[in-house]
Formats: sequence, structure tokens, C-alpha cells
Amino acid sequence: MLMTTRPMFDLALEGGFGIGAFNVNNMEITQGIIEACADAESPVILQISKGARQYANIRFLRRIIDACVEEYPSVPIAIHCDHGDTIDLIRTCVDDGYTSVMIDGSHHPYDENVRLTREAVEVAHTHGVVVEAELGMLGGIEEDVVGLDPETYQREIEKYLTDADEAADFRAKTGIDSLAVAIGTSHGACKFVNEPKLAFDRIEAIMTTCPGLPLVMHGSSSVPREFVDLINRYGGDLPGAMGVPEPQIADAVRKYAVCKVNIDTDLRLAMTAKIREVFATNPGEFDPRKYLGPARAAIVDMVRRKLEMLNSAGKAGAVIDHWSRQGQPMPSHYSRVA
Ligand code: G3H
Ligand code: 13P
Ligand code: ZN
Repeated sequence: MLMTTRPMFDLALEGGFGIGAFNVNNMEITQGIIEACADAESPVILQISKGARQYANIRFLRRIIDACVEEYPSVPIAIHCDHGDTIDLIRTCVDDGYTSVMIDGSHHPYDENVRLTREAVEVAHTHGVVVEAELGMLGGIEEDVVGLDPETYQREIEKYLTDADEAADFRAKTGIDSLAVAIGTSHGACKFVNEPKLAFDRIEAIMTTCPGLPLVMHGSSSVPREFVDLINRYGGDLPGAMGVPEPQIADAVRKYAVCKVNIDTDLRLAMTAKIREVFATNPGEFDPRKYLGPARAAIVDMVRRKLEMLNSAGKAGAVIDHWSRQGQPMPSHYSRVA
């Protein structure tokens, strides 16, 4: 069932679990994610980056997601814009039937981030669409913005973490529904050079100044060693790969207000490892179904593993009940979507 993230976050905050926000770029990735969520009876956020819109053409992606909604009515699904950077893009996403958008003004000066975010909230809320924004800075590559290398980022981390008092001011001035926070994570496969560690003290401080605000963790892939090893074994080259340990993410959703956990890199690793393995073990293979099929199955396994970590398995029914009880209207633009 299509919905906003609001009922998901209400229950996640209360129940000590997190919602997986997985990036979708094509049919096999989307099918793999939704199959795992249906099996586990878990709510899910399907998120689309600007790059994904360009790669797949949003009309195609939307229809793949519509098929998920039709095929799996018992799975709560939110469609989310990942790292939206302009008001034009936010408007387009609202028109395209997204139920949630992120406006990422984190690379602008604070006042400009506030102005941009407030405008995005006005546009989205008018149509019943919820808004995530970002404060603080992550490492790694973020859409078109090339961030800091992992070594510099980790060494100078204090200056990039989200400031708790600024977060409270930002929330009051913008009216956001959730906030992406910088707590030591980075996008991509190389997040840490030394010991991987989330800034839990910073999350606690933000929870004190922003009570009840759902927090979002970007850059939350764990970069499991076995997948990096498989890729390297079958001809890949991924030196220095290191992600966020899964037990730390499990703690972030169980004990703290982290409600949304963004995962893209781990899906890419699972898919790439499997395709490399097929080609390496059967060099004569040229039927795309014979390597994309196993790659899709690898996505199912990876997402299952993440849903366990997030403790969101079995929560689908409660989320649908909560959404229905609240009589939450669908975003008002939805009927306009062709
Ligand atoms: O935050 C970045 C996500 O991994 C999306 O990546 O812009 O390459 O689609 P992308
Ligand atoms: P990863 O690169 O850690 O998967 O993070 C993805 C993300 O934050 C998408 O917004
Ligand atoms: Zn991100």
C-alpha cells in the first residue's frame, strides 16, 4: 500500500525499529527489494536519486514501483526523492507521485539551507507530501557533489557533525518532517580508514534539542567483507572498502530516534559480486536472465539481512493499521499521475 513515511516513522520511533530506504535504479533491484520486504512483512521506502531518474527514465521507474504496489498490497511503500537539490526537482517529484521528498541543502550556507528547505516544505506539504532535509556534512560522494576523502573526513569529523542547537533552530524555521544527520557516516564503499564509529553522543544531543523528530542516517551501508572479497576474487578492485558495522546501526534504530536508514552501496556490492561470479565461473554465459536473475536473488538476500538488522520484519500490518486509523489522505497530487 502506497503511503507517506509518517505512519512508518510514528511506529518506528515508538517501537525501536528502523525503516530501510533502498535506492532503486532498475527492475531487478526493485523486484529484489520488494520481494524481501513482502516475505518479511516489512514496510519499505523506495528511493530514487536524480541519477536514477536520468538513468532509468522516471516514467519507467514509476511504473515498476506501481507494479510493486499492485502486486504486494500488504507491503507499506513510500516513494522518496533521494538528495533533491532544487525546488524545480521537488515540484517534479510531487507531480510524479512521490509521497516523500528530500531537499538536500547541506552544502549551502546555513541561511540558504533554511530558505531552500522552507520553500520545499511549502511546496510538498500543500500536496500532503512529507519532507526530509539535511544538516551537517557527510563524507564521500553525494550526487554530483564530491565530498571529502575518508581520511580527512574522519580526522576532522567534529566540524562536519550536525550541531544539536542548530538542528532545533532549523526544525523550527522550516517545519520539516525528518532530518538527515551527519553522525560519522559517508556515502560509498570507503567510509572509514580507522575504527568505524558512529557519534552516538551527537544523536543523543539532537534528540534532546529536537524531541520526537525522526532522524535519518545516510551512508548506512555496512560494506560486508565477504562481498568485497568476492568482487576482488572475481577480477574486481575495491581497495580500502569499509562500512558501518551492522550492530551499530541496530543500536541506532533500537535505542535512538533513527527511523530511516539509507542503503545503496550494499545493494550494488551484492549485485556486482553475483554478476562477476557468474561470468567468472561460466565465461560462455550471455543470456542476461542468467546473470540478472541471480543478481536479483542476491538483492533479496541482502535486503532480508538488512530488515533483520533494522528489526522491521513483521511490522507491515501495524503500519497499515496506523495509516488507516489516522485516515491519512494520500498526497493530493496522486490521482493526477498518469
Ligand atoms: O546518496 C547517494 C545514493 O547512493 C545515490 O547514488 O546518485 O549514484 O544514484 P546515485
Ligand atoms: P550508502 O552509500 O552507504 O549505501 O548510502 C546510500 C545513501 O545514503 C543514499 O542516500
Ligand atoms: Zn544519501
